[in-house]
Amino acid sequence: MVDITFAPASAADDTAFLDEVTALVNVVYAAGEKGIWRDETNRTDAAEMATIIRAGELAIAHLGGALVGTIRLQRLPGGEAEFGMLTAHPQHRNAGIGRELVAFAESWAREQGLAVLQLELLYPTEWEHPIKAFLRGWYTRIGYRLVHEADFAESYPHLAPLVATPCAFLVFHKNL
Ligand SMILES: CC(C)(COP(=O)(O)OP(=O)(O)OC[C@H]1O[C@@H](n2cnc3c(N)ncnc32)[C@H](O)[C@@H]1OP(=O)(O)O)[C@@H](O)C(=O)NCCC(=O)NCCS
Repeated sequence: MVDITFAPASAADDTAFLDEVTALVNVVYAAGEKGIWRDETNRTDAAEMATIIRAGELAIAHLGGALVGTIRLQRLPGGEAEFGMLTAHPQHRNAGIGRELVAFAESWAREQGLAVLQLELLYPTEWEHPIKAFLRGWYTRIGYRLVHEADFAESYPHLAPLVATPCAFLVFHKNL
């Protein structure tokens, strides 16, 4: 059974762990966002991961002692909770890890007294990206509704040169 906990602050000083979790996020996002970014754009690096861990925002999933998933949880200035960096290890897909991570995020947000859980989705507008289409369908099935849609390059001008294809920036909310 998958075990989900927040990474302890001490993990931010554990180089081997930082490299492992950074590699997991980068490998999963490279595949999951194939065709969206220009080559060699990593989702994160060890320094950013250490900052996220020190802030107490990274939850990790283990299965049989192995790291198999991640999710970043934040409290936004507007009072919503947000999850991001949701990954399940490529060798452990469709086994409920993603579902358990989202359930963990929802429980955490409720415990914090936060009424809305937000997620953001980068979504190509000129062709169907199968993984993004799956994610949109899944999030919708489990109660997330589209509350905001904008052009990604306009929303994040500093990232515009890095995207290889026009994308929308979608924001979903779930009332908890
Ligand atoms: C999103 C992700 C974490 C899901 O993890 P997972 O552990 O494989 O998913 P689960 O086994 O928990 O399944 C969740 C649901 O998706 C379905 N599903 C899983 N993989 C699927 C696939 N490739 N195609 C269609 N449906 C799929 C499951 O049947 C399940 O549906 P249900 O809850 O209605 O029964 C994983 O696909 C991933 O890491 N993707 C790449 C990273 C990414 O895009 N992250 C999100 C950025 S917003």
